[in-house]
Amino acid sequence: MYVLSCILLGLSGASAINYYEAQELGPCPRVLPSPDVTLEQLKGKWHLSVVVLDATKDDIEENSVCINGEVFLHNETHMKHIWDMYTPHRQELPVGTIELSIDVLRPGVWAVQTPLGSQMSGFLFGYDLDLAMVAFCGWQDGQQVHVFTAAVTREGVLTGALRLKMSSILLDNGYEPSTTKLVVWNKC
Ligand SMILES: *[C@@H]1O[C@H](CO)[C@@H](O)[C@H](O)[C@H]1NC(C)=O
Repeated sequence: MYVLSCILLGLSGASAINYYEAQELGPCPRVLPSPDVTLEQLKGKWHLSVVVLDATKDDIEENSVCINGEVFLHNETHMKHIWDMYTPHRQELPVGTIELSIDVLRPGVWAVQTPLGSQMSGFLFGYDLDLAMVAFCGWQDGQQVHVFTAAVTREGVLTGALRLKMSSILLDNGYEPSTTKLVVWNKC
């Protein structure tokens, strides 16, 4: 459940920022935003496959609580992302739901309204039809800091090939394996 607490705290804003002070939040990654992605291409169902968190040493954790989501388009600049969390034993019944309201400021750059009213920036990168990644950043002492990065996939099964593709995109976008913790969902 560790990663879920991190995500929820991250989404809750101010209190999370205090929490994260102890967690050595790094600067917001300078990703290359995917500029040509239309909202139509983001629409529909996704699975959360990997979450990247800043850490003092590299670490990989397998997570069994699935998080599946759906992107709904409101108009050409506004969308809603609804993420449902499931436990392995009750695949049909979500145990929690997170709703994000998102304004597209410019292609690949989002203003994200979290469920508890705080705001984050989202940077879409590494988009490749079956795969999308978003770096979520918040503010701490006037600096834009990295809260977490999420990789979502269309398929619920994270294949070796897809994992390799994600790793190479993360490396290309400046993520350091030695200072990141990866939380991976292999089958959701
Ligand atoms: C899109 O919807 C949002 C939220 O309802 C609204 O604030 C915004 O003005 C709308 N934009 C357009 C172009 O209609």
